[in-house]
Amino acid sequence: MRAEDTPTIRLEDYRPSDWLIDTVDLDVVLAPTSTRVRALLQLRPNPEGRPGAPLVLDGDEIAPVSVALDDRPLDASAYTVSPRALTLPAPPDRPFSLRIETELDPQANTKLMGLYRSSGVYCTQCEADGFRRITYFLDRPDVMSVYTVRLEAEKADAPVLLANGNLVAAGELPGGERHFAVWHDPHPKPAYLFALVGGRLDHVRQPYVTADGRKVELAVYVEPGKADRAGWALDSLVRCMRWDERVFGRNYDLDVFNVVAVSDFNMGAMENKGLNIFNDKYVLADPHTASDGDYASIEAIIAHEYFHNWTGNRITCRDWFQLCLKEGLTVFRDQEFSADERSRPVKRIADVRTLRATQFSEDAGPLAHPVRPRAYTEINNFYTPTVYEKGAEIIRMLKTLIGDEAFARGMDLYFARCDGTAATIEQFLACFAEASGQDLSAFALWYEQAGTPTVTARGRYDAQARRYTLDFTQSTPPTPGQSEKRPLVIAVALGLVGRDGDLPLGGAVPALARDGIFVLDAAEASLSFEGIAEAPTPSLLRGFSAPVRLELDLDDAALLRLFTADSDSFNRWQALQTVATRALVRAGRGEASDAAASAGAIAGALAGFLDGPASDDPAFAAQVLRLPTPADIAREIGAHVDPDRVHAAHRALATAIASALAPSLATLHEALRADGAYSPAAGPAGRRALRNEALGLLALASPEDATARATAQFEAADNLTDRLAALATMTLIPGEAREAMIARFAALYAEEPLVMDKWLLAQALIPEAGTLERVRGLMARPGFSLTNPNRVRALIGGFAANLTQFNRTDGAGYRFVADMAIALDRTNPQVASRLLSSFKSWRMLEPTRQAAARAALSTVAATPGLSRDVADIAARSLA
Ligand code: PHE
Ligand code: ZN
Repeated sequence: MRAEDTPTIRLEDYRPSDWLIDTVDLDVVLAPTSTRVRALLQLRPNPEGRPGAPLVLDGDEIAPVSVALDDRPLDASAYTVSPRALTLPAPPDRPFSLRIETELDPQANTKLMGLYRSSGVYCTQCEADGFRRITYFLDRPDVMSVYTVRLEAEKADAPVLLANGNLVAAGELPGGERHFAVWHDPHPKPAYLFALVGGRLDHVRQPYVTADGRKVELAVYVEPGKADRAGWALDSLVRCMRWDERVFGRNYDLDVFNVVAVSDFNMGAMENKGLNIFNDKYVLADPHTASDGDYASIEAIIAHEYFHNWTGNRITCRDWFQLCLKEGLTVFRDQEFSADERSRPVKRIADVRTLRATQFSEDAGPLAHPVRPRAYTEINNFYTPTVYEKGAEIIRMLKTLIGDEAFARGMDLYFARCDGTAATIEQFLACFAEASGQDLSAFALWYEQAGTPTVTARGRYDAQARRYTLDFTQSTPPTPGQSEKRPLVIAVALGLVGRDGDLPLGGAVPALARDGIFVLDAAEASLSFEGIAEAPTPSLLRGFSAPVRLELDLDDAALLRLFTADSDSFNRWQALQTVATRALVRAGRGEASDAAASAGAIAGALAGFLDGPASDDPAFAAQVLRLPTPADIAREIGAHVDPDRVHAAHRALATAIASALAPSLATLHEALRADGAYSPAAGPAGRRALRNEALGLLALASPEDATARATAQFEAADNLTDRLAALATMTLIPGEAREAMIARFAALYAEEPLVMDKWLLAQALIPEAGTLERVRGLMARPGFSLTNPNRVRALIGGFAANLTQFNRTDGAGYRFVADMAIALDRTNPQVASRLLSSFKSWRMLEPTRQAAARAALSTVAATPGLSRDVADIAARSLA
């Protein structure tokens, strides 16, 4: 596609559709290479649209077999067909029906958008604009219709036939070889929530009765023979349904809720009404093929998709600029669910790690964009950490600012007022303004302004006046298209830590929005506390109360005091991370630094911690033991980054700390050995996490001891978590033992593609010069395939996340990833453009690598025939 063919869609150009579609009747006859789709659309002029406007139906890689208006074949002169539209220039000025027949080739659909086949299963993916690959339609989220879908197929090919809503009829066709099913979804919905599935699938199911008394049949469908791996997903579903009833007062609203796992899927999962379709990686679990992390992700994603039923489906988005309306809110909801099911502080730490790694890095580079973008050429490139994770942080901050009760009232108002509509961020915020009585217009800037704000804080203690004063500043760096930034409304949760714990926040109380919440809404502000009897240590941004970078003028000694004495667990964890980050930033920049002193201080703090509080909460202790990653440090350095130097600094510090702690680490590794059968519950998972963190550190301190331990652990393990941890440990220790374990792993799991993905990923991440060759070799193995997104993400995406090897000085890493993006673009543009987004931090590198990265990106940009997806990422990355 040439640039001039690629229109820019702008938020300010939004206008309501000229036409509405009240009902859709689909008749789909499934066949591998020629599926026939007959659509009957009931159209009427939109009272809010332009009278007499033409009807322009979206299409993508389809052609009409026939078109009839009010049941009479439409003369070819009455409509025009272009590659992307079917247009009636002069439609009747009244309600009318259109019958459109199309023919599809699901087998040939490698983009995995629209109707495709995955391991022989027919399935659909319509978000954001895949429905137009099935039939011509007003494919925009503010056109909502009631769907009735008749599916027909050979029984042997597709014994299971599913669509949205409730099953209203099913049966055999004469001859007995074919059958049909009719599904009706009474809830009007946008086309992006349409779904159908047909295929040979096993299932597990469970009846459920909602809090308001509706009987629902829940089912999880998986590949034949894998039903024994579907139990955890079903169990998670039941738990999140109860939680949504209890916490948000939301009940389910159909007679069935189906989840289907497919092995070829571009994203994690999709919230189609009553028929969620999942990447099988986020459904299938048993102790031998899923890690503790997998169990947690399955629980979170099952919940996420289920929660969309209200935040996304019942209330959908007016247009795609409002994507964060459903995604940010639904991520917030799934994070809260996981926090309630597991440990809240540990969940918060994990989420903040992800936010910083994915969103802060996006915000700092050429792909930065506001949570609600103002323009796009390809919407599929905006399913980003900014829209999802930062979108969730904004909701969390809103709750912090207005308080739990007002937040709950605002949610109730939103559900009541916007149910059944396609809404905007303005409508959402209005509910909270009304519920809290607060003016949220300044807060709304979070949706418009890109970039991660930096907040600085300096404390002053006046012993005579018994006054402690905090001086704050905030600033946000320029981002593409936004050079001037305004101050944001930032929630700073804070406390003052004294010798015996938190001090009363005397005198400052009137200046606080709520208990311990200071609202920083100007470029500079000060806050004074009276009656403070001792020089306190400030604990700021407790619970990570705002998605900002915090620079505070505390020395290491003060931070280490917070590590032991802060009442806020998040800040206890953060304090030690900050000490380590500072040391690593200095060393990573090549500044003269006393790394040994920092290592000693951190090790000293950890020694006390491991002997004491660590045992109370092993999952939290595992997070404490885990240093910031080299990528975290590179991001903090921010400019002229030399990844090799950062990596070396990281290795040196980690090795020094591990060496100082070696005996306690060994003791931990022994003491935390499992004492019973595997359970994915948070308790035992936390013990495994701590034990395996200790093992990973031992690899640096004493490679021989760690090799023996890892090898023994690998063989003795009764679960995948411990095997993977052993493998990850060995990736740090080059040599024969490592290669032997890699081979042994492959022999054990050859028949398990999802497990082999972890094996691919572990090798792609090895921080050694031979890794690129290794990756090329792995691509040539029979199990690898460029058409399966999970394989590509594990091996090639994994390599692109390998800080030192993707960023090789000779540019070979960049060229490899660029070539792969170009190759993938021919079959699956979405997977290709996501891979290409791995270049998002290239501008922070030192000049040699920058030049090499630019050259690779330029090669992509200059490739003829690029998809919109890849062309957009390449162009923005280079701009
Ligand atoms: N809407 C999905 C989710 O967040 C993500 C998705 C987007 C899936 C586009 C497929 C295509 O739950
Ligand atoms: Zn979502």
